[in-house]
Amino acid sequence: MAEAVVKDAGAAPELAPPQHVAIIMDGNGRWANSRGGSRSDGHRAGTQNLRTVVETFSRHGVGYLTLYAFSTENWRRPGHEVRVLFDLLREVIIREVRDLHDSGVKIRHLGRLDRLSDELQTLVRQSMELTRHNTGITLSVAFDYGGRDEILNAVRGIVADGVPLEDVTHELLERYLHTRDLPDPDLIIRTAGEMRLSNFLLWQSAYAEFYTTDVLWPDFGEHEALAALSAYGQRRRRFGRAPAESRH
Ligand code: IPE
Ligand code: IPE
Ligand code: MG
Repeated sequence: MAEAVVKDAGAAPELAPPQHVAIIMDGNGRWANSRGGSRSDGHRAGTQNLRTVVETFSRHGVGYLTLYAFSTENWRRPGHEVRVLFDLLREVIIREVRDLHDSGVKIRHLGRLDRLSDELQTLVRQSMELTRHNTGITLSVAFDYGGRDEILNAVRGIVADGVPLEDVTHELLERYLHTRDLPDPDLIIRTAGEMRLSNFLLWQSAYAEFYTTDVLWPDFGEHEALAALSAYGQRRRRFGRAPAESRH
């Protein structure tokens, strides 16, 4: 457990908890396969740990948690699977938002809303509206999200607003991203052992620490969350600088 780490005298101190953790929730299909179930069973199982995961990161000082639930490329999956994922988003909102609100969680959506059904758009907007003044952890759900889409959209917005060339800075571009009011992720976790970003937070992840685990998403719970936080605590973040302890 993170608290149980014994520090050697003279060892570099542990990093403070990440302010923003973002998770690429992967492996639902493999989880179902290994049990002889359908991919839908895997996706359903992958919604059961939501509360535990939010609660664990929140309790350990994480202020922002972002979950990648459906990418702009996931439209390439069979229509039936896409429908299951949309139905599950609806179910999860109906089942969980009240409790999340009572726990002070602030809900955000990242990505496109216009390809969601009218009902789902309304549910997403209502969840954000209901929780907008909450002061607990900010839970962003990336659904119909793609990093390239987001950056392209930002560029279009900047051009449409006629922003003069000299005003186009990092900070300005960030104000046109879906994540305009979120800090960059400090830690990106990917389950199911893959080592890629799959179009997730491309701009924002420039200096994120990356952590992967072979655990499949439906099996990711408190233990795995703590393991990820503990691994993060041991990292040395340099942001391009030379190591502090090096000789010049
Ligand atoms: C993650 O699980 C859920 C989504 C991407 C929507 P997958 O459905 O990608 O599961 P695998 O990778 O096939 O095991
Ligand atoms: C990434 O998982 C997208 C989400 C977790 C929503 P995928 O399973 O879609 O990624 P690839 O296709 O293996 O890269
Ligand atoms: Mg996958």
